[in-house]
Amino acid sequence: MNSTLPFQAEIAGIGSYLPEKVLTNSELQEKIDTNDEWIRKRTGIEERRIASKEESSSVLASQAGRRALSAANLEAGDVDLIIVATSSPDVLFPATACFVQKELAASRAVAFDITAVCSGFVFALSVAEQYLKTGKFETALVIGSEVNSRIVNWKDRSTCILFGDGAGAMVLKRSQGSERKGVLSTHIHSDGNRSELIRVPGGIGRTGVSSQAVENGEYFIHMSGNATFKIAVQKLEEVSREALAHNGFSTDDVDVVVPHQANRRIIDAAAERLDIDKGKVFSNIHKYGNTSAASIPIALAEAYEKGVIKKGNLVLLMVVGSGLTWGAGLIRW
Ligand code: UT7
Repeated sequence: MNSTLPFQAEIAGIGSYLPEKVLTNSELQEKIDTNDEWIRKRTGIEERRIASKEESSSVLASQAGRRALSAANLEAGDVDLIIVATSSPDVLFPATACFVQKELAASRAVAFDITAVCSGFVFALSVAEQYLKTGKFETALVIGSEVNSRIVNWKDRSTCILFGDGAGAMVLKRSQGSERKGVLSTHIHSDGNRSELIRVPGGIGRTGVSSQAVENGEYFIHMSGNATFKIAVQKLEEVSREALAHNGFSTDDVDVVVPHQANRRIIDAAAERLDIDKGKVFSNIHKYGNTSAASIPIALAEAYEKGVIKKGNLVLLMVVGSGLTWGAGLIRW
């Protein structure tokens, strides 16, 4: 280690895992009062993936983690830190990240979860970034993983059409150098006063194990869609500008934007407000819907595999989610 050069958090590998089962809009319209045209027009979603009974968040996360480690040419034993961002954990405790550690046999790692719902991956990335840049850890595995299909009310057409299951993972490696590379900065925010917008109202701590809460649908996602839509566009613009200004960049400097895949119209509106060419904005929402904390790493992995993101590109991540939470990150790939 050279004590005069700053530490960086470089991207060493990325991977994703999507369950096999596809649920199309047409299949949904057989079950609830909705239609393919409405879903496509209002959200951009055409289909989503649904986890099998055996696939919990840790199972999806482990698969994605394995792929990211293999892309990075690293072994699980090299990992110092595993962070899993999830709002659909396997169980209340232990942390889903501990199950991932066991599954991967990452025996040296410290493992914990982060709950920032859709913003989870950017929050987790931000934590890993600090550990690498202070020199404390060398290798971090950051994963977003969700089985949203278990917490959506399949009778509520305003939410069940939106969400899907999946996992995405990124391996970060500490390096040293004067040329800035990898995660340049992350910017994360919360506003608990807006916690009513998207929430699961019931929970072990609040309702106990309650059949009444089950009957009332309190363990499912509740969302004020329209109000969330408006605040989402505003926060995405605000935090993206914050990230760009912090690094002395303008929107023209950005090569690829990888936004949270919540709604195609939200993504388009945010890009328009930022005056970013829509051709620079990557989206795969049509295939996977909103996979919450997994959406950004799944999209990043696909954009990288397809050659949309190239070495040296400046990549902007932007996200908003339940909490309210929101964040952005800039990566020199
Ligand atoms: O990832 C975390 C952040 N989450 C988000 O950012 C989600 C943000 N919100 C959204 O994406 C949108 O608000 C939705 C897609 C959820 C809803 O779109 P909208 O354009 O805001 O629609 P709306 O809620 O204002 O509803 C418009 C109409 C209503 O009917 P009326 O009252 O105008 O007769 C709804 O009942 O659309 C109706 N509607 C549906 N119709 C067919 C709502 N859901 C459906 C549906 N199929 N699935």
